[in-house]
Order: sequence, then C-alpha cells, then structure tokens
Amino acid sequence: MANPNQVVEKSPAEAVALLQSRLQAGGAPAKTPVAAVVLGSGVSVLDNLVDQIVINFQDVFGMSPGVAGHSGTLSLGRLSEGDERTVAVLRGRFHLYEGYPWEAVTLAARTIVEWGVPNLLLTNAAGGLNQKYHVGDLMVLTGFRDHISPKWKELGLVPAVQAKSEPVANALTDKLLAIGKKLAADADLQFRPLQAGVYAGLLGPSYETMAEINMLRKLQADAVGMSTVPELLSCAGGKTMAAAVSVITNVWSDDVAMGGHEEVLEASKAASKRLDKLFRTVLAEL
Ligand code: HPA
Repeated sequence: MANPNQVVEKSPAEAVALLQSRLQAGGAPAKTPVAAVVLGSGVSVLDNLVDQIVINFQDVFGMSPGVAGHSGTLSLGRLSEGDERTVAVLRGRFHLYEGYPWEAVTLAARTIVEWGVPNLLLTNAAGGLNQKYHVGDLMVLTGFRDHISPKWKELGLVPAVQAKSEPVANALTDKLLAIGKKLAADADLQFRPLQAGVYAGLLGPSYETMAEINMLRKLQADAVGMSTVPELLSCAGGKTMAAAVSVITNVWSDDVAMGGHEEVLEASKAASKRLDKLFRTVLAEL
C-alpha cells in the first residue's frame, strides 16, 4: 500500500497544465475532453482509445493509488476513428480508507472540474442491499447517502422527485437511464435492464456488519460502497455534470451466502461488457 503520509499533492491547475502539455506533445490539440470516466476496482471498460496517450497518476497528481485492481493511469484519446472529440479515462482512484486526506481523494474530480470537462461518469464496485438486485447488475445512482465525508453530511435520502439539487439529479443520469432502457429493449444485445437506486458511501475498508446492512436498508439505500461520494460532492454546483454507476459485485442476504469469488469475477466480467456498451453509446451522444 502507498504511504499516504508521504503524499505530494499537486493542485488541480498543475494537473490540468500537465495534461494539456501531454496532449500537445502527442500531436493532438489541447482540446478539453468532452467527458471523463473514473473506473473503480475491477471495472474494465473503454480499453484501447484511438491515438491513446497513457499517463501515470504519479505524473498527473503526484501520487499513485495503492489498492490492488487499480492501475492508476489516466488515458486520453478518442472513442473511434470518426470521432474527433477527446475523452479521459482514469483507471483507479484514491480512497479515504487508505488514509489519504479529502483533498487527495477529490483531486482527480477537482482536476476534471478545473479543466472544464462538461461530463464525468463515475463507476464503483458495490454491495447490493436491495433484495431485487443480482450479482452483476448495473445500478445508476439516482441519489446517494454521505456516510463518508469528514462532516458526515446527510445530503440525500433520495426519492428522485425531491432531488433536484442533488449532484446526480441531472441530464447525464437521465441519459444513462434512457439509453439503458433502449439497449435492454434490443433482444439481440442481451443487455440486462439497469437498476436505479441510492448509493450509500461508507468509509470502509471492512465490509459492513449485518446490523449496518439492516440500518442502511432502513435508510432506503440500495447499494453500499466506499467511494464515489467525495467525487460527486466535488462536482456539486459546478460546471461538470456528474453521474455514477455501481457494478453490484455481491448482494447482501440474511443467510449471508455471498457468492463465491468465481461467481463474482464472472459477473463483473459480464457487467463490464454491458457497461462498455452503455458508456460508448452515452459518450457518442454527448
Ligand atoms: N460493501 C462495501 N463495499 C463494497 C461491497 C460491499 O458489500 N461490495 C463491493 N464493494
């Protein structure tokens, strides 16, 4: 694990300057990306961008994530030959449970905001609380509960109707849901319908006790994880519109018969395929 105490942080402005200079050195104009995508543990999508430039987090942010399954790279490139727009794909993130301060955990999102990137798609691995969920489901966040920020704010016991000021109550979330519906309607694609629900962000790093799971269900949370909320809060009220998708890697049940590791890996792989389709379709329509 990285030693968070020795973190040398850069400012968002310094990170933006580095990204712009790398784009120019690669021969591309330093155009602001149309979207950035943050990929959480085990989520593997948008591989092989056209004219891809890969930069280590160390170079951009002055630090590298220490959690296995997070590669800690930022890719800049285009989705396809016919598409001139740049997208940024961040593989990995910094977590509070690793000991990083809030400023470090939110640095990537604040960099995206500083650069003026208009869209941010966040992903994470999460445990399903809603008993209708299955391993491998994709859940679009329609709201979130903040049990993670140092201030322990209560930002959102959702119902979407009450959520007009929520960072995820926006056109990007609506687009994810609408495109998910369209893809699911095409039988050939075998695209499982998306779930839509409330994410509870907890500090971790250990999973929840059964008593905590029961509490979170009573608080109307549909999934639980250890990230994403800091990034969403960093976009609140700014010019970057953020939306988030959870990959449900396990579903909590009273008999706690959590699927085997194989089952989870298999489900994550299939989910990544669907997520890739979803994101490519959404990004093409921005
Ligand atoms: N709890 C918290 N974080 C998680 C879980 C979970 O059940 N699954 C994946 N990330």
